[in-house]
Amino acid sequence: MSLARRPLLALAGAALAGPTWAQGPGLRQLARARGMSFGTAVRGQVLQDDPALAALVAREADLLVPEWEGKWDSLQPERGRFNFEPLRQIIRFAQAHNQRVRGHALLWHVAMPPWLAPALREGASQANAILEEHITTVLRETRETIRDWDVLNEIISNPPGSDNPDPTDGDLRPTPWLAALGPGYAERALRLARQVDPTLRLTLNDYGVEADTPWAAAKRARLLRVVRGLIDRRCPLDAIGIQAHLQMREPFRAEPFIAFLRELRGLGLAILITELDVREPDQLAPSLAERDAAVAEYAGAFLDAAIAGGVRTILTWGLTDRDSWLVQEPGVARRDGQLHRGLPFDAELRPKPFRARLARIFAG
Ligand code: XIL
Repeated sequence: MSLARRPLLALAGAALAGPTWAQGPGLRQLARARGMSFGTAVRGQVLQDDPALAALVAREADLLVPEWEGKWDSLQPERGRFNFEPLRQIIRFAQAHNQRVRGHALLWHVAMPPWLAPALREGASQANAILEEHITTVLRETRETIRDWDVLNEIISNPPGSDNPDPTDGDLRPTPWLAALGPGYAERALRLARQVDPTLRLTLNDYGVEADTPWAAAKRARLLRVVRGLIDRRCPLDAIGIQAHLQMREPFRAEPFIAFLRELRGLGLAILITELDVREPDQLAPSLAERDAAVAEYAGAFLDAAIAGGVRTILTWGLTDRDSWLVQEPGVARRDGQLHRGLPFDAELRPKPFRARLARIFAG
């Protein structure tokens, strides 16, 4: 078939029975058939305002994570006043579509409501009480609907050479939490979560551990040290979330990454890919087709390694270029006016080679 005829045929097919890809199984079914799970981050507002995107989420994902609604700023906008409605909206959507929800994030230094940092400076006992109230109230609320929470998000410090290096050679990232509570805060949060909801999966979620660069290697070492320390102290911890906000300008090599995953699994931990998306390099290929093929190849090599290392759960940070933080967030978006194409579907909700690669991976 000549290239020129393809679009016409595709259009004819679309007119008859919708896009051809949508006639096959969704990624959620393909993943399930392999004993795996595929999910995505969602925002409640988008599910509400964009029915086509909501239908795509229902079709493709069996696991949802709130992109915003589980963060402090959303859950406790004022001190002591909790607002669960936005999170409940996502949970209702998930229930209506037979999807599970994972929680994100009980302790993070971003998305803090304006009152929180000053309150943490009131002293350790106040800070402890605030942490305890938040974790207790939230986990009581979600006990029946969310069975996996990112209890700790991004607590590992960034080594020299990384995008955003921390002014410390300590393993823990300097944050208002560390300043208020000292290095025991991670353990405290995990123990508290276990106490409130004894069968909840407790996950430590972080980024920057994927690439074959000296600073990613250093960050992997930092994460392993922190995790070993927790386990040595018999602190409860069940899983590591690897965010996987991949950057194509960084080399990726399977061996060091798989070795890292094996070490984690050797400690008895499950591993999830929690926030996969791909930032393209500064120098873009000339055509969209080449760009999309390169994104799929980079993500595919990463996912092959992750699966070889024992990962069975994969979530992307959004499904489409229409609603991605890669396009919307100023610090992450491209500066050359181009839009990142780092997710399985484009802004018109058409599947890209990234989606085909996921389907192939799940089909084994
Ligand atoms: C991002 C969201 O995508 C944005 O919409 C929000 O403004 C800021 O947070 N690591 C995380 C996620 O753990 O919570 C972040 O999500 C992306 C980086």
